[in-house]
Amino acid sequence: MEKFEMIYEGKAKKVYRTDDEKKYIVEYKDDATAFNGLKKGSIRDKGVINNKMSGLLFKLLEEAGIPTHFETILSDREMLVKAVKILPLEVIVRNVAAGSLSKRLGLEEGVIMKETVLEFSYKNDELGDPMVNDYHIFAMEFASKEQLNILKEYALRINEILKEFFLAKNLKLIDFKLEFGLFEGQVILADEISPDTCRLWDVETNKKMDKDRFRRDLGDVEETYQEVLRRLE
Ligand code: TMP
Repeated sequence: MEKFEMIYEGKAKKVYRTDDEKKYIVEYKDDATAFNGLKKGSIRDKGVINNKMSGLLFKLLEEAGIPTHFETILSDREMLVKAVKILPLEVIVRNVAAGSLSKRLGLEEGVIMKETVLEFSYKNDELGDPMVNDYHIFAMEFASKEQLNILKEYALRINEILKEFFLAKNLKLIDFKLEFGLFEGQVILADEISPDTCRLWDVETNKKMDKDRFRRDLGDVEETYQEVLRRLE
C-alpha cells in the first residue's frame, strides 16, 4: 500500500490518498482542540491510543453487523479505511445529560435520560457546527430521507453495542459523536470512536475518562487516555 498526497487535514487527523483509489490512509495526531479550536494543545500519544481504540471498536461494530470504513491498522498512528465521502453531519447520541445538553436545558450533568437522545449538527467549523433537525437536513440536502433513517437506525444500534461493551470495562457511555460517509452508494460508519468523541465515566467513581479532562483542565489527561485503552484491550 503506497501512501500518496494528503487530501484533508482536520484538527485531530490527516487523510491521505493511496495507490488504491478506493482506500485512504488516516493518520491520527496528538493535537487536541476544544471549543471549536479556541483551546489548543497536545495530548502525548493520543494519536496512538485513538488509532488503536477506533480500530478495536470498528472491528467490534463490523462483527455486530454495522458497516464501517475500517480495513486494517497499518502502524501506531495509521489505519487503512475505505475512501468514503463524508456526509456533512455529526450524529450525537446521549444516554446521560452532560456537556452542551446540560447547558442548553439547564440539566445537572449525570441526569439519566428517560430515552436515548439523538442530535444532528451541520459539520461546519466556521459556523461552529450548529444543531440541525430533520427539516434542515432535507432542505439543505445534507442527507436524503432514506439516508437519515439509516443514520438513526445505525446510531441507536451502535449505542446499544457500545454501552454494553464499555460497561463490561467498568465505563459508562454518557454520550458520543459519530460521522458517516458514502461508499459505493451505501451509508457506512466513518471518522473515529475515541475518548475525543465519547464521554466515558468510571462506573464506580464517575471519574471523567475522556477529553473533558483536557477541555476542563481536570489533569491526568495522558494517563486517563492510556487507562481507557488498557481497559479495552
Ligand atoms: P457536547 O455535549 O459538547 O455537545 O458533546 C457531545 C458529544 O460529542 C461528546 O461525547 C463529545 C463529542 N464531540 C465531538 O466528538 N466533537 C465535537 O466537536 C463536539 C463539540 C463534541
